[in-house]
Amino acid sequence: MEKVAILANGGDVSGFNAVIRGIVKTAEQNNIKCYGIIEGYKGLLENNFVELNSYTNASGILDKGGSIIGSSTNANVFNYKVEENGETVYKDLSDICVENAKKDGFDCIFTLGGDGTQKSARDLYLKGLNVIGVPKTIDNDVACTDITFGYNTAVSVAMEALDRLHSTGETHHRVMVLEVMGRYAGWIALESAIAGGGDVALIPEIPFDIDKVADKIKERISKGKRFSLVVVAEGAMPKGGEVTVKGTRDNGSGVDNTKLGGIGEKVAAKLQELTGLEARNTTLGYMQRGGTPTAFDRVLSTKYGAKAMSLALEGKFGVLAVLKNGKLDSVPLEDVVGENKKIGAVSGNTKESNLRRVTMDDDLVKTARCIGICLGD
Ligand code: F6P
Repeated sequence: MEKVAILANGGDVSGFNAVIRGIVKTAEQNNIKCYGIIEGYKGLLENNFVELNSYTNASGILDKGGSIIGSSTNANVFNYKVEENGETVYKDLSDICVENAKKDGFDCIFTLGGDGTQKSARDLYLKGLNVIGVPKTIDNDVACTDITFGYNTAVSVAMEALDRLHSTGETHHRVMVLEVMGRYAGWIALESAIAGGGDVALIPEIPFDIDKVADKIKERISKGKRFSLVVVAEGAMPKGGEVTVKGTRDNGSGVDNTKLGGIGEKVAAKLQELTGLEARNTTLGYMQRGGTPTAFDRVLSTKYGAKAMSLALEGKFGVLAVLKNGKLDSVPLEDVVGENKKIGAVSGNTKESNLRRVTMDDDLVKTARCIGICLGD
């Protein structure tokens, strides 16, 4: 093994750079040259990369948000958007990626990303590339691992927001709603509600009954608490209803291109009507993804980076570095994609995706119920 390359793909999270640093440093310890592919799979397609060195361009990055090698949210190389004769067409350009990686002599490519990124990684592996995935996403919804990097920072940001909403909500006797990210999985909402003293957590996995939520708030009022904290995942929906869509995005083909947002406003308006308290919504948005990672994420990301490079040294490819019961491990990318087996067809964040959702027997759900957090059911 002489040369390895890293690509960061999909929506950014805090911790991208810490993983990159972990890989680069482990590679250097083993006299292996490490390269950074610019802007994810787009860079692989365009053969755009730089050499990374922990003493120069990859120095001082542990605490930095974003990604020093960029990232791409719309680069499904199996169905890539191109303009041809004034028309938009989608083409399978994955063979170019395979040729580029072979020509450049990359013995392994590390794919830092969520389910879509790992789906493409698995497909490229089947086409002959040595790949090793590292599980990223603030939503914490990548299959086969206990936790993704970036998630803990998102939860911490949401917790801090709840602490701040707590004091203003209490002062003005208001219902304070916090809309957080989480398209298909409610991990951020659930965990931040526990960490930040939320009274209600509404998650995509449990369609909610707004009357039950209002009852919880009224019960608190009757006991002297004239304010409440309600955390709502962007993907939460009422019983028998749909998710709230704010618009569309252009994250490529084979992806759920709805831009979610707005459920927090709806929940706040309804709760104001039902409880008699004033209600206000705050949408946390991209605050959850930017900025410096928590200590936990710095350590987790470094562990993932070191593990991924160690797997490469062992010659273990086509796998995802994971954390299982607190221990670093690896699982075949084949397991990560689940039943979404067809090469290239769909990428990530779709109904076909093999996502890790909150299950009703999870300790977070049990804990929330034990302490009386209303989950809307
Ligand atoms: O999947 C991670 C995530 O942060 C979701 O929670 C959110 O819906 C989505 O990305 C937003 O993505 P974009 O960067 O395309 O707006």
